[in-house]
Amino acid sequence: MHGHYQHAHTRAWATRIASFDGFVMVTAEYNRSTSGVLKNALDHLYAEWQNKAAGFVSYGVAGGARAAEQLRLICGALHTAAMSQQVTLSLTTEFEHYTTLKPAAHSATALDTLLDQIVAWSTALAPLRDASRAAV
Ligand SMILES: Cc1cc2nc3c(=O)[nH]c(=O)nc-3n(C[C@H](O)[C@H](O)[C@H](O)COP(=O)(O)O)c2cc1C
Repeated sequence: MHGHYQHAHTRAWATRIASFDGFVMVTAEYNRSTSGVLKNALDHLYAEWQNKAAGFVSYGVAGGARAAEQLRLICGALHTAAMSQQVTLSLTTEFEHYTTLKPAAHSATALDTLLDQIVAWSTALAPLRDASRAAV
């Protein structure tokens, strides 16, 4: 489903997001929340997020878990299904010199589970997406 947007950049963003059924949202943690940039990108659209699935990969001192929790609230407003599994990368133990990613085995396993959940849920939500397209 497509929203009606005034600006060309919003329409381009909407077309891009409309082309996907599921998402992996990657976020750092800033002051115990997600980044303003990602929040802004989410806020620009509505219809294109609906009845889709999203999973979260976060990083920070505490694995960015609090940023991912903020994204769950936002996804609730957008009618995007938030996956239970999440990948929380520790800045102190899973990044070399706080820059080069060296994920622990448990993070790689968690990512596999997360991707499986996104595929399963985004597939299962197809009838709802079809119904909302038909209603327009
Ligand atoms: C203003 C600011 C606030 C931050 N707050 C948090 C925080 O609450 N929790 C945390 O784990 N890391 C926090 N950090 C550290 C960032 O998560 C870390 O620097 C991360 O690498 C930023 O990601 P980026 O380099 O992709 O922008 C903060 C960093 C900044 C600059």
